[in-house]
Amino acid sequence: MERLNVNTRIELNDGHAIPQLGLGVFQLEDPAVCERAVAAALEVGIRHIDTAAGYENEEAVGRALAASGIDRHDLFVTTKCWVDDYGREQTRRAFDASRKKLGLDVIDLYLLHWPVDETMMAAWDTLIALRAEGQVRSIGVSNFTVRRFEDFFFSRTDVVPAVNQVEVHPFNIRPDVRAYCQAKGIAVESYSPLARMKGMDHPALAAVAEECGKTPAQVTIRWHLQHGLVVIPKSQHPARIRENAAVFDFMLTDEQMRRIDALNEDRFVIGWRPGGEENWY
Ligand SMILES: NC(=O)c1ccc[n+]([C@@H]2O[C@H](COP(=O)([O-])OP(=O)(O)OC[C@H]3O[C@@H](n4cnc5c(N)ncnc54)[C@H](OP(=O)(O)O)[C@@H]3O)[C@@H](O)[C@H]2O)c1
Repeated sequence: MERLNVNTRIELNDGHAIPQLGLGVFQLEDPAVCERAVAAALEVGIRHIDTAAGYENEEAVGRALAASGIDRHDLFVTTKCWVDDYGREQTRRAFDASRKKLGLDVIDLYLLHWPVDETMMAAWDTLIALRAEGQVRSIGVSNFTVRRFEDFFFSRTDVVPAVNQVEVHPFNIRPDVRAYCQAKGIAVESYSPLARMKGMDHPALAAVAEECGKTPAQVTIRWHLQHGLVVIPKSQHPARIRENAAVFDFMLTDEQMRRIDALNEDRFVIGWRPGGEENWY
C-alpha cells in the first residue's frame, strides 16, 4: 500500500483532489472554540475543513483560515447547502452567503446536505451552474443511499457527484453504498467516523489499539484511511485533534482491518432524517 501522510489526497472524478484527512466542525458553535480547533488542525498539517451552513460556524472557520496565513491553494474547504435552501435561486443565495461568511472566492466542495426529492434537483442544477461558473470546484451530495441514487437521482441527472458524504464507522461499514460509489467513481467521505465515541471502548478495538500502541480513535481513523475513505473526525480539543492526526506512523495489517470490519452491526449514530424516518429510503 502506498505510504499515507497528512497531505495524502484522493483524486475526484472531476480532476480535483481532496485531502483524505479533514477536521469536521459540527457542533462547534462557539466561535472561539471553533477557531481554536481549526487552528490546531492546521498546525498539525490538516488542510481540509468540513463545515456546513447548518453548523453556524462558517465565519469562525473563515477567520481561522485567514489568520493562519496558509496559501489558499493548499486549503480544502467544504460547506453544504441546508435543505430549507433548496431551489434554483434560493440555493444560489445560500451559496453566496456561505462563501461570504467563509471569506473565500471559490469553495472547494459544495454538498447537498440531505436528500429531499421534492426540491433537491433544482438545487443540484444550481450546483452544476456554480461549478460551470468556476465559483465552486467540486460538487457532491450527502446522506445518499444506493436506492436514492438509483430510484431517484440518476433518472433525473447525468452529472455524477464528486463525493457522497455518509455515516461510516466500524459499527456501520456501509458495504453497499461504498461499493456502489466506487463503481460510479464517487468518493465516499466518512462522517461520524468515530461513531461519536459510542462503542469506541469495544474490546476488539481496544485489542487492536494495544497491539499498535495507539488509541481506539487512532486505529479507527487509520481503518478509514486504509479503506480509501475520506475521514473527517471532529474534536473541540486541540490535544485530541493532534491525537487524531497522529495516524501516519503505523499501519493496520489485513487481519486487523478484517477484525475491525467484523464489528459492523449496521448501527447509525445519526438518527435525524429530513421529513422523518418514514420518508427515508
Ligand atoms: N453530512 C452530514 O449529514 C453529517 C452528519 C454528521 C457529521 N458530519 C460531519 O462529520 C464530522 C464528524 O462527525 P461527528 O462530529 O458526528 O462525530 P465523530 O467525529 O465520530 O465524533 C465526535 C465526538 O468524538 C469526540 N472525540 C473526537 N476525537 C476523540 C478522541 N481522540 N478521544 C476521545 N473523544 C474524541 C468528540 O468530543 P470533543 O469534541 O469533546 O473532543 C465528539 O464528541 C462532523 O463534525 C461534520 O463535519 C456530517
